Amino acid sequence: SPLWPGLIEAYRHRLPVTDATPVVTLQEGATPLVPARELSRRTGCEVWLKVEGANPTGSFKDRGMTMAISKAVEEGARAVICASTGNTSASAAAYAARAGLICAVLVPQGKIATGKLAQALVHGATLLQVEGNFDDCLALASKLAIDYPVSLVNSVNQFRIEGQKTASFEVVDVLGDAPDVHCLPVGNAGNITAYWQGYREYASDGPASRLPRMWGFQAAGAAPIVRGAVVEQPSTIATAIRIGNPASWSKALSARDDSAGRIDAVTDRAILAAYRLLARTEAVFVEPASAASVAGLLQVAAAGELEPGQRVVCTVTGNGLKDPEWAISGAPAPVTIPVDAAVAAAKLGL
Ligand code: F0G
Repeated sequence: SPLWPGLIEAYRHRLPVTDATPVVTLQEGATPLVPARELSRRTGCEVWLKVEGANPTGSFKDRGMTMAISKAVEEGARAVICASTGNTSASAAAYAARAGLICAVLVPQGKIATGKLAQALVHGATLLQVEGNFDDCLALASKLAIDYPVSLVNSVNQFRIEGQKTASFEVVDVLGDAPDVHCLPVGNAGNITAYWQGYREYASDGPASRLPRMWGFQAAGAAPIVRGAVVEQPSTIATAIRIGNPASWSKALSARDDSAGRIDAVTDRAILAAYRLLARTEAVFVEPASAASVAGLLQVAAAGELEPGQRVVCTVTGNGLKDPEWAISGAPAPVTIPVDAAVAAAKLGL
């Protein structure tokens, strides 16, 4: 079919679905893989951006959510719940609305971007702001899913990982093989787990001849995997990855070690520099957390640890419009003028 049917239909034979699974889709997936000219020039590598902000709700979470919600409906669920730094709740709210399910979301009070809050509300989710961080929200959501008739759709739900692994399939389908290196931001560590699973599946039975090295990057103030210890009070401007005790911690370590990869920390300053570079030179507007993958790549390159000539894919996980404050605060204030061409020309330096 010339129309993209969504990732469950596109990769049905590689996903745990049957004819009995009611497919709940917003035609997620098939996101752009954009050549990054400036990043390639700076690193001497062939750099590509997997632009996951092009998904229906503006983040990679839609890949997992089409699976999680389809399976929840198949299993007869009437309500779903998640903890979220914002994107999971936006995606869960949208797919639950599509499926006619009740959706409850728990978010850390005051620590999620405005656009994401708007998405959960407009799609009709019931949102509770928790006096705690994401880790507290996840513990609470997990407990509620045990004690009450509600299905958990966080990435501890294996169907989420199954859906998210399709991003690796798409990369290989476009490039013809796995890249040398794949860079990702790491928060709860579900996505690096999912990509690694996808690459391994494709390498085990044909489509890919090799495996990439997985490079994950955490924000320096929320880098439990790098430090090897839970961070009780995680802190970063990249609110999407403000997580101190990742649920998929050990799987992220496996992805790193089995791929001869790395998981490093990047400062908020480096994240914002990469965020601006992406917008100005590659013309890709991402949210701050997404820029961690690119900040990390540039950091490794600056340390002389990136061999030139390699093929590198950086996933940029979420759309910049979700969290526009960083775009506005970093720019000069707009100038106001009367309806006057001469004044406009003078202000524009024409
Ligand atoms: N980038 C963005 C934009 C995210 O929203 C997240 C996670 C990540 C990266 C990290 O992915 O958790 O799989 O390692 N956001 C979750 C949420 C926690 O609730 O939306 P991860």
